[in-house]
Amino acid sequence: MTTRIPVGIEAISTHIPRHFIDLKTLAKANGTDPDKYYHGLGGRRMAVIQPGEDPLTLAVEAARKLFDRYSVKRKDIGLVIVGTETAIDAAKPIAAYVHGILGLPGECRTFDTKHACYGCTAALKTAADWCRSGSARGRKALVIATDIARYDNDSPGEPTQGAGAVAMIVGQSPALLALEDYPEAVFTEDAMDFWRPHYRTTAVVDGHASIDNYLKALESTYRRFKHESGLAFEDYDYLLFHVPFPKMAFKAFRLLYEREMKSENGNRFENMETDYRARSWPALWANIEIGNVYAGSLYISLASLLEKQSLRPQSRRLGFFSYGSGCCAEFFSGRVGPDASAWEGKIGLQEALDNRIELDHASYRRFRAESERLLKNGSFQEDLRLDDMGEATILFCGIRDHQRVYSIIPDSSRRRRHDDAANKNKEERELFTVRVYS
Ligand code: HMG
Repeated sequence: MTTRIPVGIEAISTHIPRHFIDLKTLAKANGTDPDKYYHGLGGRRMAVIQPGEDPLTLAVEAARKLFDRYSVKRKDIGLVIVGTETAIDAAKPIAAYVHGILGLPGECRTFDTKHACYGCTAALKTAADWCRSGSARGRKALVIATDIARYDNDSPGEPTQGAGAVAMIVGQSPALLALEDYPEAVFTEDAMDFWRPHYRTTAVVDGHASIDNYLKALESTYRRFKHESGLAFEDYDYLLFHVPFPKMAFKAFRLLYEREMKSENGNRFENMETDYRARSWPALWANIEIGNVYAGSLYISLASLLEKQSLRPQSRRLGFFSYGSGCCAEFFSGRVGPDASAWEGKIGLQEALDNRIELDHASYRRFRAESERLLKNGSFQEDLRLDDMGEATILFCGIRDHQRVYSIIPDSSRRRRHDDAANKNKEERELFTVRVYS
């Protein structure tokens, strides 16, 4: 391994929608055996956005927490990259909106990366290279994954939906996770396993082919990484995979276990299930509750692992497999940093899950239809409010004159809401318009 400047993740935060639907409710409504979703796919619940939430609001909420709660300073940011496959515009990146709304420095590069679920890994790796190259000059990168996973109603993909965002600060003091600097292990093949034409709000997918492609890309990148790094299957304390649905992580782990057990002399766990429970399962508890977050799923897993104090002693090695349909994949590794234990309870994933509101099937479908209605020019609704504001700081109010209109809740008003529960839903709001090109 070449040892250049240490680079990695200094801080991480997440944001998930306030609402969810239980997969049993979905199964009952579409006449499926709930065991297929609970056991066959491994999910339990999935996050559902309500009208007023969109990929930009999810990204802003996740990133704002980095500045509000942790010692991250806006003036230090020199690069903003958003990995997403839920673009809100064909030309202008979500990164530019985030930059404006959060008041980041003008001397900053901003862009989005897209390659299905691989988008955030492309962003993370680009940010790490920016730091290593010296271009960062001591500044830090803000890397965000934000996505809304949506398939057609009543399709096989429907129980694998979800939504959320993860924001990370990447820099040269990787207190949370140092990315190990091995030669890259990537794989690309032009495939039609999953895509979303511009005229659709839902993805088109060849589900079974996509599973085969995922596993083929895993095999290829793992083999390459093993060759480049000299690391054995045994050398990872945890193995994290892209999680389109939780059972997929199991399939991925099983593939590596079966291949590697043949080629390596023994394994500290004699049984594949036991090994999986010890080394992959601890990173899946939030994915099981949220569903697919496309570009964010792998990083929701990372946040889940980091949030549990007992699971993150310093220097533990994590292996990551990132897969984006289409397809592009990468295997890489990182080591838990010295300050990771100071993050206990700070990521807030468990707390956010504990405070969610359950939807019945009719409300889930209504939320979806109303959210989609807001995507049309002329949909702007000045009085739009979330059903339950929670900690929301920004709302998407629809489109007026081809401009997306957001309503920002000022800090003073947010503090009042916090102090006085009766003020819930009565915040003063400032309208913030951004232009969309359509
Ligand atoms: P399906 O065809 O409805 O399900 O769709 P199935 O018949 O294959 O069953 C699924 C599993 O449930 C099977 O288990 C069944 O045996 C089991 P497995 O054989 O796989 O171990 N099952 C039951 N278990 C208990 N009780 C029952 C029962 N019935 C069946 N009664 C599929 C499944 C995943 C294809 C579908 O949900 C889908 O198309 N999802 C979206 C695509 C996807 O998630 N692909 C994953 C790999 S590609 C990827 O990860 C990229 C992606 O995130 C996008 C991006 O890159 O941006 C999607």
